[in-house]
Amino acid sequence: MKVIIYMSITPNGYIASSRSGTDFIQSASDRGFRRMMSQVKANVVGTGTYKKSLESGHFPYKGLNVVMTRKPVKSRWKNVIFTDKGPAEVLELFRKEGYRRVMVGGGKINSLFMKAKLVDEIYLDVQPSVFTEGVRVFDGPDFDAKLRLIGVKRLSRSEVQLHYKVLKKGHPQK
Ligand SMILES: NC(=O)c1ccc[n+]([C@@H]2O[C@H](COP(=O)([O-])OP(=O)(O)OC[C@H]3O[C@@H](n4cnc5c(N)ncnc54)[C@H](OP(=O)(O)O)[C@@H]3O)[C@@H](O)[C@H]2O)c1
Repeated sequence: MKVIIYMSITPNGYIASSRSGTDFIQSASDRGFRRMMSQVKANVVGTGTYKKSLESGHFPYKGLNVVMTRKPVKSRWKNVIFTDKGPAEVLELFRKEGYRRVMVGGGKINSLFMKAKLVDEIYLDVQPSVFTEGVRVFDGPDFDAKLRLIGVKRLSRSEVQLHYKVLKKGHPQK
């Protein structure tokens, strides 16, 4: 199972502004995220991201969607599961359904999966905006991780994509 984090971020590491949400995300990154989601068709979010995606009309995505929440919620969609299970058990839900790749998203949820050492790859689409109040790309429990840069792509005149592999142990290769 390959677990992928795909985030549009500011150069100072924010994924949502407390004033303007994700309005800072430009079209090339938006398209890139949708393209990958349409290929992977397996999506894990926390309540925070779920509520915002629902408001913007993007939720649920095609395929299987899992919303991590510690509150009991009844799903109104056939392809959406609300669960209080932890990261490893959530991945098991996808594995049982035959999925080989999963996209994970949300500040707290990103940290939960990183702390559990379950993330394989991270795509960061760096956007040309800075703000200092909002949600950080890793906004949950404390963890340390080493990454290896495996790709750099210019997405548009003002956006660049950094693609990392998460090293499960040891130090990054130089
Ligand atoms: N820029 C981007 O590419 C991008 C991508 C994704 C999201 N976002 C933005 O990120 C923001 C959401 O991030 P977020 O950090 O606020 O929320 P989040 O990570 O999406 O969800 C956090 C929520 O997940 C639930 N949860 C379930 N299990 C948990 C556990 N073990 N520990 C902690 N929480 C758990 C909790 O809600 P309950 O109270 O229900 O338990 C918690 O409040 C939104 O503004 C969204 O638009 C941006």
